Amino acid sequence: MTHAETPPHALASTAVRVPWSSAELSPGAEAFARFERNPARTEAWPWRATALDDRPTGKVVVCRAPAVPLGEAVRVRIVRVTHPDRSDRGRIEVEPVGASLDDEVWMPEALRRQLPAALALGSNVLFIGPQGCGKTTIVRSVARALRYRYVYFNCAAITDPDDFLAVIQLQARAGGTSTIWRSTALLDAIRDAQARPEQRVLVFLDELNRCPEHARNVLMPALDNTRVLHDPTTNRALRIPPNVHFVAAVNVGRAFSGTFGIDAAQLDRFVPLVLSWPPQDAEERIVMRNVPGCDPEVVRRVVRIAHQLRNDSELRAPLSVRATEQAVALLGHESYADVPPEEATLEVLATTFCNRLPGDLHDPDSDAGRALNLVRKLCRRTT
Ligand SMILES: Nc1ncnc2c1ncn2[C@@H]1O[C@H](COP(=O)(O)OP(=O)(O)OP(=O)(O)O)[C@@H](O)[C@H]1O
Ligand SMILES: [Mg+2]
Repeated sequence: MTHAETPPHALASTAVRVPWSSAELSPGAEAFARFERNPARTEAWPWRATALDDRPTGKVVVCRAPAVPLGEAVRVRIVRVTHPDRSDRGRIEVEPVGASLDDEVWMPEALRRQLPAALALGSNVLFIGPQGCGKTTIVRSVARALRYRYVYFNCAAITDPDDFLAVIQLQARAGGTSTIWRSTALLDAIRDAQARPEQRVLVFLDELNRCPEHARNVLMPALDNTRVLHDPTTNRALRIPPNVHFVAAVNVGRAFSGTFGIDAAQLDRFVPLVLSWPPQDAEERIVMRNVPGCDPEVVRRVVRIAHQLRNDSELRAPLSVRATEQAVALLGHESYADVPPEEATLEVLATTFCNRLPGDLHDPDSDAGRALNLVRKLCRRTT
């Protein structure tokens, strides 16, 4: 398949549409696909097509990208073909290519330059930012764009230093039970990286400050030039190869219960990158993409009110993009079809915005009550 550069309109006018032979459809090949909603298995594969470059494929072409433009030619790459020896069975799994990082995430210009640079230099990166500002989404998308193998590790689940690499499990056996070490995704990723030095691996240590300090301290030698960890499964030092890169994320601030402070020595092992919520227009695009079928007018109203609450000098409301997505999704539900917009917006934002803040909605001196008064005013102005 060599049509990757051909404009889609030229492909659409191709007169003779010879079906693909299965030998031509191999992983890595690129072509154009026109997607429709997949009526079957919508959760795993929301989009499907029946042709590539407008030539029938025999097998169904499926895609799990968060969003694709329906009916339009989208450039895709074949990731996997199941049952390659059969023309009547299996599927062709594809992913969109050429979509820039901009289509997936918003991040400040400085971060766009510094994150890839820090990774290329082998530095560890620490994302610092409030909840729901895109830390996890950005790291995942950048890993994909830079072709790192992405390994997610939730540090909030750690209680003991050994938990980073392995957990002990009880195993039933004849005459009783025995204990075995079960390796974590982190240990598997490090072993895999040792075996395949050409594959770069991005280990994302999410919620790093939600694990207690004594557990987090075992990571210290992994994050400096020593590059070793104690492997409890062998009771020996585990070498961390240079193709393993670490990115961590933390929420910092008084609002975060269950978090532990990152001390200066830990912080010193990272390039610290600070992130905040996207600007209004970028957040509108994100919500529009993430809430299928939403009304752009509702999105604009909800995002605008969120920004006013976040920027209010007294309130500084820490409202995540999740909160705006949630509000837009609720307002789009049929339960609100017959409710006047001002009333519906007030009711939904009292829940999705104000209830996220400390205090009582009925107490005008609390953050929740103050936010409700502001929302009431803004709803009147914007609906
Ligand atoms: N900058 C952004 N770019 C793209 N999507 C974003 C961005 N910020 C938030 N979102 C959207 O908001 C939701 C939450 O984002 P995400 O989980 O990445 O936030 P987070 O900063 O990791 O939050 P937390 O601190 O709670 O883990 C996702 O649906 C994501 O698509
Ligand atoms: Mg996160």
